[in-house]
Amino acid sequence: MIRSALMNVMTAAALKAGRGLKRDFGEVENLQVSIKGPGDFVSAADRKAEKVLYEELAKARPGYGFVMEESGTVEGTDKTHIWYIDPLDGTTNFLHGLPIFAISIGLARDGQIVAGLVYNPVTDDIYVAEKGQGAYLNNRRLRVAARRNMAEALIGCGIPHIGKQADHPKFKAEFAAVMARVANLRRLGAAALDLCFVASGRYDGFWERGLKSWDMAAGMLIVREAGGFASDAEGGPDFLTKGSVCVGNEFIHSQLLALIRAAG
Ligand code: IPD
Ligand code: CA
Ligand code: CA
Repeated sequence: MIRSALMNVMTAAALKAGRGLKRDFGEVENLQVSIKGPGDFVSAADRKAEKVLYEELAKARPGYGFVMEESGTVEGTDKTHIWYIDPLDGTTNFLHGLPIFAISIGLARDGQIVAGLVYNPVTDDIYVAEKGQGAYLNNRRLRVAARRNMAEALIGCGIPHIGKQADHPKFKAEFAAVMARVANLRRLGAAALDLCFVASGRYDGFWERGLKSWDMAAGMLIVREAGGFASDAEGGPDFLTKGSVCVGNEFIHSQLLALIRAAG
């Protein structure tokens, strides 16, 4: 486990925000059957969790900047540090009562991600990594899967939703190309956790386009610190700005990358 002061700060903030999310998730199950549904309630839960994260992190590290999904960007007086925060990754799952969602906190120093934490408050799984310190799930050191053969690989992906019609043809082409070559595909609906599932060797690889920095800042470091290769979907290092990711061990990463590049 990583026991740095920084990780203590991140963990405390995530646990505090996670308590609220867990309570609200319980309530969603009751609202599920009402005609109005839990929509507004979920947005409120989301914003509440972000407020807790913002307050806790700003108190512990005054001056750091923030890039947050719900409240946008807050310029810091310390220009070298930026928090990337997604208070609820996997909103659609949360809304439908599926316990696959997480809080994601990434910290960049001079444009490089140096710390990441992804926390699922329902399963109580905390994935953490600091640059050069390895990646952990609770107290267990993480390592990406060793499989090299694509025909045996379980690969995760992200499917563009109905509002992103323009991205559908490209995704269909990539999906068809990968489906023809791997054991099977999964779409779990929380990119931060998808990345952690590669870091923990559950998935052999994962790719997705159209993500935001707060979806993947933490998870990409966690994959790398678990010995994985993590790039944008063109194989470069610009995932934070391009919003695309491709990850896996060295062998799966290169084969997956070749498939999606050829399909595009
Ligand atoms: C979404 C999830 C989903 C991914 C979407 C993201 P949200 O984040 O990570 O897996 O496919 O692109 O927007 O909206 O649940 O925080
Ligand atoms: Ca997200
Ligand atoms: Ca979110």
